[in-house]
Parts: sequence; C-alpha cells; structure tokens
Amino acid sequence: MGIAENVQAEKFQNLPLDLKGITKKFPGIIANDNVEFTLREGEIHTILGENGAGKSTLMNIIAGLYPADAGEIKVFGELVNFTNPRQAIEKSIGMVFQHFGLFPHRTVIENIAYGLEVRGNKKAERIEKSMEVLKMVGLDGWQNNYPRELSGGMQQRVGLARALAVDYANKGIKINAI
Ligand SMILES: Nc1ncnc2c1ncn2[C@@H]1O[C@H](COP(=O)(O)OP(=O)(O)OP(=O)(O)O)[C@@H](O)[C@H]1O
Ligand SMILES: [Mg+2]
Repeated sequence: MGIAENVQAEKFQNLPLDLKGITKKFPGIIANDNVEFTLREGEIHTILGENGAGKSTLMNIIAGLYPADAGEIKVFGELVNFTNPRQAIEKSIGMVFQHFGLFPHRTVIENIAYGLEVRGNKKAERIEKSMEVLKMVGLDGWQNNYPRELSGGMQQRVGLARALAVDYANKGIKINAI
C-alpha cells in the first residue's frame, strides 16, 4: 500500500460517523430502510425528506434514543450499540431536538451543563464552560431563568448550547433534528 492509500485508509478508519444498513420498523411502516451515511471530519450535512420520511427516526437512533432493528454504527472507527442517550453523549454525540427537549425543572445554565455532568466534568468546570457557551448563543443574563420563561427561539438556542457544551472541550458530532 502506498503512502497516499495508507493516509486514505486511516481517514476512513477514523470517520466521525459511519452508518451501514440502518433499518428501523414501526408497526405497519419501515421508517429507515437500509440507510447508509458517512460523515468525514469537518463536514456539515443536512438530511432532507418529506414529513414522515424517517429523518428524526435516524437521528434518534444515532443519539441512542431508539435501537436500530438492523445495521451498524461506527463512531470514530469504533462499533457502538447505544441503548440510551447517555452512551451517545459519552461518545461526543450531541443532539438538538425538534421540540427542544429541555428539562423544565432545570435552569438554563443547568440545562446547558447537563452533557458535561453526564461526561463527569467537575461542577466548577461545568459552569465555567457552560457560561462561555451561553454567551456564544447570545443568552448571557438568562442563565438562572427556567425554559418556560424563554421564547421558542431562545429555548432552541439553549438546546443548541447544551449540544455545543459537550463538544466545547472535546471532539464531537452534533445533530440538529428536524
Ligand atoms: N415512536 C414511533 N412509533 C411508531 N411510529 C413512529 C414512531 N416514530 C416515528 N414513527 C413513524 O415513522 C415514520 C418516520 O417518522 P419520522 O418522525 O422519523 O419522520 P420525519 O422525517 O422526521 O418527519 P417530519 O418531517 O414530519 O419531522 C412515520 O411514518 C412515523 O409515523
Ligand atoms: Mg422529524
């Protein structure tokens, strides 16, 4: 194998995300039928499809909310089999939900810090990193408010900040579900 081929092979081994044959059935419908998807480092993708096409289902599978019926998922070359979202967060997969998915009983900053909590970061570091991300999404000053006190767009930015916070110190994959 030449150097160029070696580099190429290495790149493929370390793909941030590589899906093969993902299939998911719900009663009476195949939501995902043998889906293939590859994400290379630095890429940004949009998955388009009509209502009910299976976009959210695929994102939910990647984020560990549902298991796939068949197929395999590799994250940075490692075969994964998530049985809950916590395991996906541990592998740096962040998800911004179509319907926000914020914790109503947690303040804005506590929502943003959630992923860092799951990853075991210390409290002072969680708050410091989350405050930086809060500023990045333009919500400085809202840290102690509850989600219900924010507009829809602001709540969506909290969801985005929560996904970004996980990625802030680590390499990560973010999913923006539609
Ligand atoms: N939890 C579930 N139980 C049963 N059927 C489901 C479930 N989730 C999704 N489906 C079905 O799977 C199909 C794909 O739904 P999905 O939510 O993935 O579509 P989508 O592409 O995200 O659509 P939209 O553009 O409306 O958000 C639909 O027919 C839907 O009814
Ligand atoms: Mg959807």
